Amino acid sequence: ENIFTEVEQFLLEKKLTHEDFRLKYLSRKGVLNELFEDFKKISGDQKRLVGQTLNNLKNRLEEVHVELSANNIANVSPKNQSQVLDLTLPEIQNQIGSLHPLSIVRQKIVEIFARMGFNTEDGPEIETDWYNFSALNFAENHPAREMQDTFFVEKNEVTKDDLLLRTHTSNVQIRLMEYKKPPIRSIMVGRVYRNEAISARAHCQFHQVEGLYVDKNVSFKDLKDTLFHFAKEMFGKDTKIRLRPSYFPFTEPSAEIDITCFICHGDGCNICKHSGWVEIAGSGMVDPNVLANCNIDPEEYTGFAFGMGIERITMLKYGINDLRLFFENDVRFLKQFNGL
Ligand code: PHE
Repeated sequence: ENIFTEVEQFLLEKKLTHEDFRLKYLSRKGVLNELFEDFKKISGDQKRLVGQTLNNLKNRLEEVHVELSANNIANVSPKNQSQVLDLTLPEIQNQIGSLHPLSIVRQKIVEIFARMGFNTEDGPEIETDWYNFSALNFAENHPAREMQDTFFVEKNEVTKDDLLLRTHTSNVQIRLMEYKKPPIRSIMVGRVYRNEAISARAHCQFHQVEGLYVDKNVSFKDLKDTLFHFAKEMFGKDTKIRLRPSYFPFTEPSAEIDITCFICHGDGCNICKHSGWVEIAGSGMVDPNVLANCNIDPEEYTGFAFGMGIERITMLKYGINDLRLFFENDVRFLKQFNGL
């Protein structure tokens, strides 16, 4: 009985660490074993009662030991703290995180265009066929609508619209022109999706920035000047741009924008495949059909649009060679952008 009370007292006051407790009561030379030794000497009629009490004591001691182990670190009394406080351990370092490289570059892009008077617009990632394709002058059977490029979502039960994950941020251009009349000078930033096999150069999700400028007398020269200025701000003042004829359903004429390879400056390297130029954006004058689809009179207004992948700009800017790194969030990769 005395031992029972003693043990409860220890549990309350936590005077012993779980290890000291074990040594005192549960070890080979501990109190419990001594009692069992004595127990062997007890005779006949007392054996049953004493045996039962001893078993109860054993169970209780084991319970208390477990409880003390659990509380050991948190509740150990100051007197015994030296047993758990190891001053030779290295400090726990609080690591300060860094912005994701895509966020850093997105911010820079937004800032550069903000200085040229572009505000930022936003729109949905789950989109109808109309905003992602039809309003942008994609013909009914344009190959980009087919399954290999687009993730389709189940049809909207009520409207019967085809739903999909937007394949570019151009959907926001249409939504913007629908509710706002020119002058419009905006960029659209966001995540887009394409049904592509994941590799170092392609992913099923990435980020785009598109720009739209619609007003009276907006010209192809405005497009070129804007993107030239952007390229110099982003990649350095010696950067040059080159426009190559291209095709997009929603722009006419259309051009692909290249910049001088900032790694080899034209001397030839792997990034630019020894051409001295790397592509950074698609662009063009907004097709009159697109303006008309948004009730903007193409006789009165003209506009230019452009679109670029944030991943691509980031890879070029920081010499990153594998797109998958952006989505794996390996801290060894992310840490390298600390302070940028
Ligand atoms: N929407 C095009 C794409 O995703 C990019 C683009 C935007 C091209 C605007 C021209 C004008 O490929």
